[in-house]
Amino acid sequence: MSWTERQRALLGAMGLRVWGETAPEHALATSDAGLEDAAAPASPSDPDPAPPRPAAPERRRAPAPQADAASPPPRASPAIDLGAVAAMEWPALREAVAACRACDLCQTRTQTVFGVGHARAHWMVVGEAPGEQEDRQGEPFVGAAGQLLDRMLAALQLSRADDGDAASRVYIANTLKCRPPRNRNPSAEELHACEPFLVRQIELLRPRIILAMGRFAVQALLRSDEPVGKLRGRVHRYQGVPLVVTYHPAYLLRNLPDKARAWEDLCLAAGVAEAAAEAAG
Ligand code: URA
Repeated sequence: MSWTERQRALLGAMGLRVWGETAPEHALATSDAGLEDAAAPASPSDPDPAPPRPAAPERRRAPAPQADAASPPPRASPAIDLGAVAAMEWPALREAVAACRACDLCQTRTQTVFGVGHARAHWMVVGEAPGEQEDRQGEPFVGAAGQLLDRMLAALQLSRADDGDAASRVYIANTLKCRPPRNRNPSAEELHACEPFLVRQIELLRPRIILAMGRFAVQALLRSDEPVGKLRGRVHRYQGVPLVVTYHPAYLLRNLPDKARAWEDLCLAAGVAEAAAEAAG
């Protein structure tokens, strides 16, 4: 990996290690305690083997909508057809998200925020929910937190561009596809309603590494209420895909000292992605 003088200066000024110049021994050490299920080994005979497709989680079929012609329909459909979502390809999934009325956020959103990036990106970043800018522009992480995220990814020569080399591309999505009013925390009901879309995005993408940013991404993917600070620093798994937990960039904007820890988390994730690429040949 080559570094620009500017990147070196930036990382040096932050007192951070330059990825690719020092051996990241710890980065490749996965924590057995953190492994929640086993990854299927990549086949060395396959020239471009995709990582194992995550096993489909147990799915419930949504209850049939109860017709009530007299009352106004705040939600067009009370729940998502999970079987249908599980079978969708990218275009249908995007349309389903845009049409979703499974929770009350559909009444206050400007638009849904599906996700952005290369459809075969090796990296996937999962955040919380769209904020004001994202609700306006229809793309995740375009506000101040997103700019910090982009800078951190660029320091690893990663980008959200939807073309080019999949190994250096990041797909970015949120646990919620609609903005909660006044950026309040997502409710358990909203997270539950929106989850099938994220599950399907991960299934379609089959990333080599997932970076879960902040507590709601952690709750959604690891089913854990442990604080981020306790879960970071080791490799977990989501449906067989390695997952690294880190701080949400909006938190980092308010807590500068934790930027160094976030950088360590990104280096850990980079080590995992690089090891996966080597294993894939
Ligand atoms: N915070 C998030 O978690 N996601 C966004 O898209 C923007 C801010």
